[in-house]
Amino acid sequence: MNFAGASILSVDQFERADIEKIFAVADKMEPYAKRQLVTRVLEGAILGNMFFEPSTRTRVSFGCAFNLLGGEVRETTGFKSSAIAKGESLYDTARVLSGYSDVICMRHPESGSVGEFAAASRVPVVNGGDGANEHPSQALLDLYTIQKEVGRSLDGLRIAMIGDLKFGRTVHSLIRLLKLYRNIHVVLVSPAELSMPESYIEEMRLAGHSVEVSNELTDGIGSVDIVYSTRIQEERFESQEEADLYRGRFRLNQQIYTKYCQPNTVIMHPLPRDSRSGANELDNDLNQNPNLAIFRQADNGVLVRMALFALILDVADQVDKSAREVNWYHRRT
Ligand code: CP
Repeated sequence: MNFAGASILSVDQFERADIEKIFAVADKMEPYAKRQLVTRVLEGAILGNMFFEPSTRTRVSFGCAFNLLGGEVRETTGFKSSAIAKGESLYDTARVLSGYSDVICMRHPESGSVGEFAAASRVPVVNGGDGANEHPSQALLDLYTIQKEVGRSLDGLRIAMIGDLKFGRTVHSLIRLLKLYRNIHVVLVSPAELSMPESYIEEMRLAGHSVEVSNELTDGIGSVDIVYSTRIQEERFESQEEADLYRGRFRLNQQIYTKYCQPNTVIMHPLPRDSRSGANELDNDLNQNPNLAIFRQADNGVLVRMALFALILDVADQVDKSAREVNWYHRRT
C-alpha cells in the first residue's frame, strides 16, 4: 500500500509486505523510543488525539510516538469535553479538527465510527479502536511482539486466544492479520456466549489455516507458542450482571502455566488486564515469569506507532538525518 497520506482504519488494508515495511521502520525507532537519540523530523506537525473511551496505552503511546518524532499533540478525552456533547456530528467534528491537525488518532465506542469520521476528515485518521470492531495498531504491535518473542518467521505459528472473543476488538484485528501468514494454528478459548464471530473463523479456514474452538482453558494452552489472554469487555454488555457471569472464568496463573504450558510459551495480553479479585484473567503471580511479555508488548506500541506516523507523514527515510544524542540523564536499557 502507499502509506503517505493514508488513513489506517482496518487490518484489511495490509498485505504481508506492508507489515514487513512497518516493522522495518519500527526497528529503526528503538534509540528514539528509548530516548537515547532525539529527532525533530515531525517538527511543526500536530497530532489530534481524540479518545472518546478510556485508554492508557493507546492514547499515551500515540502521543509519545508523535512527540518523539518532534511533533505536538492536542488531546480531546471523553465526550463531555467535546462539542459532540452539544449535538455536533462526527462529520462537523472531523471537518473542524482536521483543520487543526496533520493526522488524527481516534477511539470511539461505536463500530464503524472512526471510518465515518475519516471519510469527512481532511487529514489521515488512525483507528485507535472503534467499539468491538477493530484495533489495527494494537494488532500490528502484537504481531511485532510475537515476532520478536518467538525469534522466527510467523509462518507455522500456534496461538491460543482466550477470554472475550466476541467483543474483544484486539483479537478481531489480530486473527485477520495472522491470516496473511502461512499454516497458522489458532485455538479459540471462550465461553460459548463470547465466542469469536463465525465470519473471522471462516476467513481463517478459507485461507487454509486451522482453527480449534474450546471452552476449556487447559485444553487450549498445551501446545502453542503464544497464549493471548483478554479481559471480559464489560463496557460492551447490556448490564454489569451479565458481564459478571463471565468474569474470572479463564484465569491463567503460574500453577496452571507450569502444569499445562510448554516451558517457552509466551504470555501476552493487550492490557488492561483486570486485576480485581473477581477477574484476574492473568494473575499477578506471573509477574516474575520471564515469558510474560505484556510490558514488552506495551513498550513495542511506541515503536510501531512511531513507524505508522513516519510512514503516513512520509518521513521514514529522514528520521536519522536530524538525529542527535540527548544531553540529559536517561536509562540505557
Ligand atoms: N490495549 C489497549 O488498547 O489499551 P488501552 O485501552 O489502555 O488503550
